[in-house]
Amino acid sequence: MAKVVLISGSPRKNGNTMQVLGVCKEEVEKAGLEVDLISLHDKSIRSCIACYKCVGSGKCSLDDGLNEIIAKVRPAEGLIVAAPVYFGTARGDLMSALQRIGMVSYNNDKFLSWKVGGPVAVARRGGVSSSYQEMLMFFFINEMIVPGSTYWNIIFGKQPGEALNDAEGINTVRRFAQNVAVLIKKLN
Ligand SMILES: Cc1cc2nc3c(=O)[nH]c(=O)nc-3n(C[C@H](O)[C@H](O)[C@H](O)COP(=O)(O)O)c2cc1C
Repeated sequence: MAKVVLISGSPRKNGNTMQVLGVCKEEVEKAGLEVDLISLHDKSIRSCIACYKCVGSGKCSLDDGLNEIIAKVRPAEGLIVAAPVYFGTARGDLMSALQRIGMVSYNNDKFLSWKVGGPVAVARRGGVSSSYQEMLMFFFINEMIVPGSTYWNIIFGKQPGEALNDAEGINTVRRFAQNVAVLIKKLN
């Protein structure tokens, strides 16, 4: 069965980002695909240290749990990532994870190519578009296929739970997750 990996970049175990990914999970599973939901809340993901030891080795030289995430992402058909917005940008740990996953893919078997997915940005008010675009850079430089939705994948909410009250945002993400599943099924 095709699998979609979902990565939450929030330090909150059950924060808005996780709750929004819960909606994605629901839709992807409804479409008959398998989901692997990963949270960075219990991890501390370092930035790439530019050692280039990933070249040819297929893994990252840093031992902080990222290789275990890569092992789940590599065989999956889809990848959806979601981040809380911090000072107008996607949270650092999530971007660090994406940059290192990208380096390992690019310098080895390009396992990210043709995966279907995209980003979701969650914030109280400001910086959602820039964070969404920031994360899109990762998808497009890695030959990934990003379906659209009825709006961009941006959700508003501050305290955990508030994001689920953003009806337009939730509907957009729901449709996006459906489109990820539709596309994976068409491609496979
Ligand atoms: C360090 C920090 C910086 C933040 N910066 C922004 C920001 O630039 N714009 C915004 O709208 N919300 C900002 N927020 C609020 C969070 O994006 C918002 O509470 C979000 O729902 C958190 O998602 P989570 O519950 O999944 O962690 C910030 C929160 C923190 C802790």
